Amino acid sequence: MSPKKDTVILAIESSCDDTGAAIIKNGNILANCIANQDIHEKYGGVVPELASRSHQKNIVPVVQIALKEAGVSKEELSSIAFTQGPGLLGSLLVGAGFAKSFALGLNIPVITVNHLQAHIMAHFIDDPKPKFPFLCLLVSGGHTQIIAVHDSDEMGILGQSIDDAAGEAFDKTAKIMGIPYPGGPLIDKYAKEGDPNRFDFGRSKVPGLDFSFSGFKTKVLYFLRDEMKKNPSFIEQNRNDLCATIQEHIVSYLLHKLRLAVEETGITEVSLAGGVSANSSLRKQFEALGKQEGWNTYIPDFQYCTDNAAMIAIAAQFKFDKSDFAGQDAVPYARHTI
Ligand code: KG4
Ligand code: ZN
Repeated sequence: MSPKKDTVILAIESSCDDTGAAIIKNGNILANCIANQDIHEKYGGVVPELASRSHQKNIVPVVQIALKEAGVSKEELSSIAFTQGPGLLGSLLVGAGFAKSFALGLNIPVITVNHLQAHIMAHFIDDPKPKFPFLCLLVSGGHTQIIAVHDSDEMGILGQSIDDAAGEAFDKTAKIMGIPYPGGPLIDKYAKEGDPNRFDFGRSKVPGLDFSFSGFKTKVLYFLRDEMKKNPSFIEQNRNDLCATIQEHIVSYLLHKLRLAVEETGITEVSLAGGVSANSSLRKQFEALGKQEGWNTYIPDFQYCTDNAAMIAIAAQFKFDKSDFAGQDAVPYARHTI
C-alpha cells in the first residue's frame, strides 16, 4: 500500500489591514507570516483603499516567505485557502484573486474560510483543545458575539452587540483621548499603571446576551469634554486611570454576559477568541472567573488572537478533511455571518 500523501495547505488572510500567509501540513502550522500596515495610524483608522493597495504590494512576498519558512515548494501544496469574509471587500478581493489564480495555475482546489469561524478554530492550533460543544466569546474590531460551537462547521450566535464591537469601544475611546490607532493594545499598556475604579461610566441595559457599547463611548466623550473645559490637561494627567477604568468597564461587561450564557446553556467549556482576547486584563479575569465557576477555559496563544493566517489554515484543514472545497466562482463577502 502506498503511504498516505501529506496534506499541505497555503492559507491567505486579507480581511482588513494585515496581509497574512500560513502553511499547515497535516494539521501542524509550519509558518505564519504577516505584513502589518502602519499607514493607517496616520489617519486614526483603516483606510480601505490604502489597505487594498498594500495587500497587492505585500501578498506575493508574504506568500514567498511563508513557503520558504515552512520549507515547502508550491508543487507540494494540496489546496489554497482564503478568507471569504467578513471584511473590507477590496482587501478580501486581493486575497481571493491571488488564491484562486495560484490554485488554478497549480491545478489544486480552493477552500473558502469564514474569518469569524477561523478566530474560533484558532483554539485547535495548540493543546489543550476545547471539546464540542463549547461557548466562545468572540471579541474583535468588528464583532462581539457569544457563540455556541457544536462542530467546526456548526455554530450558533447566542448574543451579539447591537452597535459597536468591543474592539471599537477600545479604539474609539482611545481616539477620544488622542491615543493612536489601534487604541486597544495601548489602553491595555497604560491601564497597567492605572486605577480601574477611579471613574464610573455606568452599564448599558441591553437585555439577555446582547451587548451595546455606543452609549458607553458617548458617556466617555461627554465626560472628557466637560472635564477638559475645567482642566485642559485632564486627559494627560489622568491617562492611566482613564485607560484602566475604560478597560475594566469593557472587560467586566463582557464577562458578565458570558457568565449569563453559561448559566443559560449549562455549557462549561468556555473560550475567548478575536483580537480583544489579546487584552491582558480580559485574559486574567476570564481565567479567574473560570476557576471560580468550575469552567474549563481556553484562550488561543497570543499570536493567534489578533488577525493571522494560521487561524485560516487550521479552519481550512478541517474543511479539507471533510472535502469541503469551493469552486473558482467563489467570491468574497464583506458581510458574512457565522
Ligand atoms: O481580530 P482583530 O485582530 O481584527 C478584526 O477582525 O477586527 O481585532 C482587532 C481589535 C482592535 O480593535 C484592537 O484594538 C483590539 O482588537 N485589540 C486589543 C488588544 N489587542 C488588540 N484590545 C484591547 N487590548 C489589547 N491588548
Ligand atoms: Zn479578526
